[in-house]
Amino acid sequence: MRHDDSANTTDDPKLALVRQRRRVIRRTQLLSVRASRTLLESMIAADVIVLATPVYFFGKCAQLKTVIDRTVARYTAIANKEFYFIVTAAVGSKRPLERTIEGLRGFTSCLTGAKEKGIVYGTGAWEVGDILSRPAFEEAYEMGKSV
Ligand SMILES: Cc1cc2nc3c(=O)[nH]c(=O)nc-3n(C[C@H](O)[C@H](O)[C@H](O)COP(=O)(O)O)c2cc1C
Repeated sequence: MRHDDSANTTDDPKLALVRQRRRVIRRTQLLSVRASRTLLESMIAADVIVLATPVYFFGKCAQLKTVIDRTVARYTAIANKEFYFIVTAAVGSKRPLERTIEGLRGFTSCLTGAKEKGIVYGTGAWEVGDILSRPAFEEAYEMGKSV
């Protein structure tokens, strides 16, 4: 049985469109699987991991959540890492962001030997470019230098 739709010809434009969309979806899925494997291997090989996220309704963003969830197959191999957290949010104080940080700890608490080394609270970042004038910008730079 052939799995390559491109070999199939049809005069029906609707059917051709459905087949073309299927091919695009398959290719996208393949790329996504490859990308997540590469990322997971990088996390396993790393000494230091930075979990960075914008704060959305006081939680982490969906993209970071997906990365975390995709580690499930080999998360036990992400052992003895140093972790840094960076969050950005519109709110002007750190305290409300603790629940986001706790959400990140939900992941690191499942990892063997994870050490939390630092947190940057990027508060007061609502408009594009706001973060450039906030202390968090310099703090993140200094934190990176100290690793
Ligand atoms: C959907 C959405 C939800 C947000 N929720 C919060 C929030 O709960 N608390 C907060 O302080 N800022 C919130 N913000 C502001 C963002 O955290 C902030 O602007 C961040 O810097 C955006 O980063 P981004 O440009 O990478 O999305 C929200 C922004 C969006 C778009």
